[in-house]
Amino acid sequence: MKKFLLLISILLFNVSIAQTYYSPDKNLQLNISINEKGELHYQLKFKDKFVVKSSKLGFILNENDDFYSSFKIENIGQSSVSEKWPTVWGEVDSILNQFNEVKVALKQVQSERQLIITFRIFNDGLGFRYEFPKQENLKYFIVKDELSEFSLSGNHEAFWIPGDYDSQEYTYTTSRLSEVNSAKGLSFDDIIVKSIPGNNFVQTPFMLKSDDGLYINIHEAALLDYPVMYLEVDKESFVLRSHLCPDIFGNKAYLQTPFSTPWRTIIVSEKAEKILESNLILNLNEPSKIKDVSWIKPQKYIGIWWGMHVGLYSWNYADLDNIRIETTDWKNLKPNGKHGATTERTKRYIDFAAKYGFDAVLIEGWNVGWEDWFGHWKENVFDFITPYPDFDVEEVSNYSKAKSVNLIMHHETSASITNYERRLDEAFRFLKNYNYNSIKTGYVGRIIPRGEHHDGQWMVNHFTRVLEKAAEEKICIDSHESVRPTGLHRTYPNWLSSEASRGNEFNAWSEGNPPEHETILPFTRLIGGPMDYTPGIFQIKMDYYNPGSKFQVHTTLAKQLALFVIMYSPIQMAADLPENYERFPDAFQFIVDVPVDWQKKKVLSAEPGDFIVIARKDRNSQNWFLGAVTDENEREFELSLEFLDEGNYEATLYCDSNDANWKTNPMSYKIEKRVVTKSDKIKIRLAEGGGCAISFIKK
Ligand code: NOJ
Ligand code: CA
Repeated sequence: MKKFLLLISILLFNVSIAQTYYSPDKNLQLNISINEKGELHYQLKFKDKFVVKSSKLGFILNENDDFYSSFKIENIGQSSVSEKWPTVWGEVDSILNQFNEVKVALKQVQSERQLIITFRIFNDGLGFRYEFPKQENLKYFIVKDELSEFSLSGNHEAFWIPGDYDSQEYTYTTSRLSEVNSAKGLSFDDIIVKSIPGNNFVQTPFMLKSDDGLYINIHEAALLDYPVMYLEVDKESFVLRSHLCPDIFGNKAYLQTPFSTPWRTIIVSEKAEKILESNLILNLNEPSKIKDVSWIKPQKYIGIWWGMHVGLYSWNYADLDNIRIETTDWKNLKPNGKHGATTERTKRYIDFAAKYGFDAVLIEGWNVGWEDWFGHWKENVFDFITPYPDFDVEEVSNYSKAKSVNLIMHHETSASITNYERRLDEAFRFLKNYNYNSIKTGYVGRIIPRGEHHDGQWMVNHFTRVLEKAAEEKICIDSHESVRPTGLHRTYPNWLSSEASRGNEFNAWSEGNPPEHETILPFTRLIGGPMDYTPGIFQIKMDYYNPGSKFQVHTTLAKQLALFVIMYSPIQMAADLPENYERFPDAFQFIVDVPVDWQKKKVLSAEPGDFIVIARKDRNSQNWFLGAVTDENEREFELSLEFLDEGNYEATLYCDSNDANWKTNPMSYKIEKRVVTKSDKIKIRLAEGGGCAISFIKK
């Protein structure tokens, strides 16, 4: 009888099928199998080590509609790709896209519905996605749950932040998988967001280190028209289950065929450095949708910004509360005397930018509404076209043109999406009129309409809409409090950067970011794309502005310089006040010299949570730049300079001085110059919480 059943199931579900496929270099081995219930599983090995043990795939659709079992394999297609593609801007000027593809076409036995699962095996990892072909029996549907699993081989060390549906602005916890406790230690104000489903949900990019020496990073690529994926950690079996951001009804996505989900990605290596050098996520994104990219330019910028975060200035013009823009006569308001974005200050910042070769100036708090925005959860706060009485947008615009400095428009939406979308046309007309070429968008607070989340399908579509509209108008975007990146800057190269993480700003007004923070971010948040971290704070302790304040940046000054190399962003801010830079002109020289667009990247040494050393070659010259950062521990490195090209370079080392320490003496640095070639070695010492930046200028 048993035998007979087995035979039937073989006939129905191809139980015997278990196939093996390899990466181009044969180091990665993918196994695909279908069990007697007709459920598809995959398994991934790196050499002889398990990356992912046999793991389930599939969906629950609509109410409780099984779309994960009773499948039979109709066809398995294989192909290979090996091509190089040029980047519009980036960490490297061209990228090798090399993989073996396996396309498994499935049909559900009774419902006759079809599903295709495509796997791409690269030398540095795996991507897979689900494709719902156009078909009679599946036209419109709801994704109730995606059931993708990542069954890990042990109780790995994990670097995680809680799976909040609305924010990634957390410090990282390092723990074993069995100790993930993501409902604990919430550090962000409840007014802003707190939507964590349970105590075992984490965000991606999720970084792991196994006891058998593998570094594993799980994330997603090309997130379009679909919600963000979090991972639910089974603390006993070490299986990670996908958990999609829901809407208010608990539904995850509303789809119609044909549709392809984002790629689920697993980057793997025996070397931590290789995780940071991976281009797998970019390779899984589509080429640029924007045909003419000549107007898209990386930029280094300053801004009327840090002054507000440290409390010197205010975004708001008047000290008022609960005022709605439609009922307020802005011209007659009494100024509070602290307003940051005045015409006069903006012109001074433009002068500073022009003098030191910055491309652009960001001006926040220029428009009416800031008296009434924060935490009030109102629909109609900002109109994006009405400047405060002391900000003459025309004069500022003419002045910036005369000085050849670009302006970055700030659109804080206060997460009121319906308000922003209905005003978008007018807002774009306004900024084009005044010659702005980029927008920093902001989505602080709970999403309006109520019930949506920052990471839900509805918001993912909003972010794409804004990007597409911006592309039509030749505008670049730097989004804050947006969905975390998934490599879409390949498809939309006008999406220069985003925050979507806990930036330097937290150091100004909270317990801040611990010294290890910047040694983890490149392994987590930055795996998906550039981050507007806003490095370059020279005045480290906040009691300089607010006597008695305990807040401070948790690094040395030299480490702030190194962050220009470590935290990649093609729109990179020198975040401190111009007057602070003028106090330290010799250290500021590194910020003046460092570019924001690169030809080559070499990760010289790295360990998540401990240290990172990266060298990068400028895209537009022969010069190289190096950044090294450490956590709270002092470290020494002997660096071989063999990454340099032939010839002599003048190396300028901006390092922690011997007595520097992030807590007790953070602003103490030393600068040293010497001529070097690629056969030299350089010894550097990083203080506790410190760093070192080096420029290599070709002679
Ligand atoms: C949070 C952003 O991250 C920050 O850069 C901005 O200044 C404030 N929101 C105000 O919009
Ligand atoms: Ca923020």
